[in-house]
Amino acid sequence: MSQAEDHAGTRRDFLYYATAGAGAVATGAAVWPLINQMNPSEDVKALSSIQVDISGVETGTQITVKWLGKPVFIRHRDQKDIDLARSVKLDELVDTKAENDNLPADALATDENRALDKDGNWLVMMGVCTHLGCVPLGNAGDFGGWFCPCHGSHYDSAGRIRKGPAPRNLQVPVAAFTDEKTIKLG
Ligand code: FES
Repeated sequence: MSQAEDHAGTRRDFLYYATAGAGAVATGAAVWPLINQMNPSEDVKALSSIQVDISGVETGTQITVKWLGKPVFIRHRDQKDIDLARSVKLDELVDTKAENDNLPADALATDENRALDKDGNWLVMMGVCTHLGCVPLGNAGDFGGWFCPCHGSHYDSAGRIRKGPAPRNLQVPVAAFTDEKTIKLG
């Protein structure tokens, strides 16, 4: 064995023992941060919910806001959008689940179960195509809703998948009105 190899071997042994020793000492201290991470801190909780001022969103238009790094569509639907969405029967749908995080997982994909308010004026959805995650375009496609140009998925005016490769309706995130001009996401 050369002197250099001998030296390297000695150094490895030293590092191994030093690490093992430090590990033994640190075990008690290391458990707490891991457990503690399961309870999100206040600043993480604050980031996970945002308030959106919707007072300037005119009927028939939508805004896109970024939440948790993803686009969220907030659409102020006009009566035509609402009537179109409410005229669709469940057996015409590809995905009959509401896909609404505010409702039980087996809730059905009626327009009433997708809209944020009873009259259906507001629709809030993740702007993420359920096929491979592209951002669909609004006022587009064959069903009066959204069209994903990546591989041709058509969503209706309630964000339900009607044609193309996407398997599920656009997800409705946890959302609620905090007052008549403000929607809270998360
Ligand atoms: S990502 Fe939208 S159709 Fe493929």
